[in-house]
Amino acid sequence: MVEIMHSNILELHELRENAFAGGGTKRIDIQHQRGKLTARERLHLLLDEGSFEEIDILKVGRGEGVGSYESHPGDGVITGHGKINGREVFVFSQDFTVVGGSLGEGHSQKICKVMDLAQQVGSPIIGLNDSGGARIQEGVDALAAYGEIFHRNVHASGVIPQISCIMGPCAGGAVYSPSMTDFVFMVDQTSHMFVTGPNVVKTVIHKDITSEELGGAEVHASKSGVAQFVYPNDILCLRAVRQLINYLPSNNKQKAPILDLNDPPERTDLTLDYLVPPNPNQSYDMNVLIYSILDGAEFLEVQPHFAGNIICGLGRLGGQTIGLVANQPAVLAGALDNNASFKAARFVRFCDAFNIPLVCLVDVPGFMPGPEQEHGGIIRHGAKLLYAFTEATVPRITVIVRKAYGGAYVVMNSKHIHCDINYAWPTAEIAVMGARGASEVIYRREIDKADDPEAKLNEKMDSYRTRFMNPFVAAKRGYIDDVIFPRTTRHRLIRTLQFLESKKPGRPDRKHGNIPL
Ligand code: HXC
Repeated sequence: MVEIMHSNILELHELRENAFAGGGTKRIDIQHQRGKLTARERLHLLLDEGSFEEIDILKVGRGEGVGSYESHPGDGVITGHGKINGREVFVFSQDFTVVGGSLGEGHSQKICKVMDLAQQVGSPIIGLNDSGGARIQEGVDALAAYGEIFHRNVHASGVIPQISCIMGPCAGGAVYSPSMTDFVFMVDQTSHMFVTGPNVVKTVIHKDITSEELGGAEVHASKSGVAQFVYPNDILCLRAVRQLINYLPSNNKQKAPILDLNDPPERTDLTLDYLVPPNPNQSYDMNVLIYSILDGAEFLEVQPHFAGNIICGLGRLGGQTIGLVANQPAVLAGALDNNASFKAARFVRFCDAFNIPLVCLVDVPGFMPGPEQEHGGIIRHGAKLLYAFTEATVPRITVIVRKAYGGAYVVMNSKHIHCDINYAWPTAEIAVMGARGASEVIYRREIDKADDPEAKLNEKMDSYRTRFMNPFVAAKRGYIDDVIFPRTTRHRLIRTLQFLESKKPGRPDRKHGNIPL
């Protein structure tokens, strides 16, 4: 008996050693030469020291098709759970050194097991992707295996945070799993995502294009909007995932952890009284306000390289995580366009799903005009943002800093779509449109008849500004709950969040709404 035990223990050692060796030193060296870490090295950096507990280290593929599957340690993926700053997360890390990290039945079953456990336990799932895609030798079984993952992605959506790091190739239909998760991180130069690669592009549309040009990190961060974060290497990427997790609750039944950054809630900032320039056509940087009000001036901006006319990100106020959505007057005057609407809508929906209160800072001259935007679907995309804010039941607060014109005023979390508390700075201009456009429409005849039309236009614009373009008209109507001194913004927001904390959202009894996708 003792002898049998002993040999089994020896065998276990051997099997584990084999798993730890991955695809062998030669392939590991190639991985390193390409500036990539191995699947295990990545997990080591992602998780708290010594916290990783592996599941299915001994699992192999089904052993059919070309080659011997028993010789593929872990079937090309390492799965398990560990901690990030003491909080449990589930992980999978594809091992490119083993059959190119390709995904077959066994590989998928391992991923599905940790996805199921993550959802049952109520902890985030983090996937580190580095894979040649469907394992060719497994044929349709490999495709079925992807389907199982997609199914779980959808059912975990809005239940647990799902995070994907693309740290190597991610091609073909495989891209649809990460793209359905909440946040996609990419590593510059070493990660690529595309539905069809450069060879297919060449064959079908006779165009030469590199992997980097087609689906590199920079492309997805700035053009397609697929990636929310890009980092120059694996180490910085994994560190950023840890940072993101710190802002998030573990699941949709919990609130995000409170973290006291030792920043007094009542802190005021006199410089904010001078932020908005006297000339309404002059821009300024909304980041000044953002970094001034947030605890410890810490802000994790989401999609910083995409649709810069709107800023989305996570920060803390009074220790509590908030989702911040702000127009950026320094880019396209802060106008809402297709990309900005899509970016902010998705972010708002994430925050609402995970009990993260929304703070909206408004300086918006309207929707971006022109055929490019109209034909690109500004009606559809703008509606997404309107829908997202309107359906959100988390505490919602808005501060109108300067312009809030027309439909964009209503869309940007206004009182009229049931935002909880709406503040305005004294510099706010709440109106149907800007002074010039409005005067040209309503006083056109008078201006045309005047001896000096330009002087008449200016006179009418002045009168329009005085009558309409201030926050006091809206405050008198109760659409603005208070006009606040800019310097006190942080304190007012924190006090408002405190009293909204016990807000009980009413949800309509329905399967789900039909957001214009
Ligand atoms: C089986 C694969 C594989 C795959 C790579 N390998 N991809 N094995 N199935 N899909 C193996 C290689 O045979 C090789 O094995 C090892 O992994 C490393 O691959 P290399 O080609 O040497 O690496 P590299 O030069 O870096 O090229 C990486 C690559 C290339 C660009 C990913 O391997 C490649 O083009 N692979 C095929 C990609 C692909 O077409 N996948 C299917 C996409 S469609 P050895 O033993 O030599 O080390 C898809 C559908 C999903 O995924 C559908 C979901 C619904």
